[in-house]
Amino acid sequence: MILVVLVASAFAAGCGGTGSAAKSSAAPTVITTTPTGEPSAAATPEPTATPEPTPEPTPEVTTSLAQLQAKEGYMAPKSLDGIDPLNDKVVALTFDDGPHPENTPKLLDILKENDAVATFFMVGTNAAEYPDIVKRVYDEGHEIGTHSWDHKDLMKLSLDEIMTNQYGKANDAIEAATGLRALIDRPPYGSMSEDMAEQIGREQILWSVDPNDWKKENRDPDTVYDHVVNGTPDGGYVQDGAIVLSHDIHATTVDAYDRIIKALKDEGYKFVTVTQMMQIAEIRGKDIEYRFGHAPIAAESGSESSAPAGE
Ligand code: NI
Repeated sequence: MILVVLVASAFAAGCGGTGSAAKSSAAPTVITTTPTGEPSAAATPEPTATPEPTPEPTPEVTTSLAQLQAKEGYMAPKSLDGIDPLNDKVVALTFDDGPHPENTPKLLDILKENDAVATFFMVGTNAAEYPDIVKRVYDEGHEIGTHSWDHKDLMKLSLDEIMTNQYGKANDAIEAATGLRALIDRPPYGSMSEDMAEQIGREQILWSVDPNDWKKENRDPDTVYDHVVNGTPDGGYVQDGAIVLSHDIHATTVDAYDRIIKALKDEGYKFVTVTQMMQIAEIRGKDIEYRFGHAPIAAESGSESSAPAGE
């Protein structure tokens, strides 16, 4: 069974586009899978070989989301170790359009200093140009998704063009840098129909908070800070389960993030990646919107129903 993947965004799309929002509702049957990233070592009688540093254990993923199953050759979804999915207040920071040669490394420093994780939706041309930064993003524990090859409006392309020339090519660049392909995508401008998302068969991740940090009039760290931390009527407000859209190609955005992370931490938020948020949303068990304007808030989980965020 392929679960539909679209992401309802309540708000105007970033990067200057208009999101075509759609939602999927599937009551997930939670199954437990233990992905087998590596074949168990055949009983080779290696006498005293010094063991290489053990690769990170493959996390156990509890999900029914077909797109989230660990697959050979793909980055594994992040485990929920250290996160209480029902009670923690969680937010996913996401950064589009990079990597950028100066601003992305600076952001990585900020994330490291604050012990925070984020998700980077990379444009293929930039990933191909800056493979060392792509690798650093991955090595430092952040999540990577594709954001097309050259930022085209995908709804103007055929399925084949999307899969081969856009997401496929972007993933080639990510694989060239890290050795692995990404499981998730974000369509440029949030431009994606539910039907197309279903045909793509990969998670198409939108956002619930858009600070419009890319707009000229907002290219100022204080404004970006204000739009994320305090929210705006147009761009939405951070709440438990939020996915925040920003752009790591802009110095003004990156310059705001040290303060943003500290402020959100002060409000009790924990930072999660998108694949963690997907698992959290599933565990919270709401019929969602979450793919992906946002995950249901913790307080809603288990309750009968809640008004979906406006579209
Ligand atoms: Ni973009």
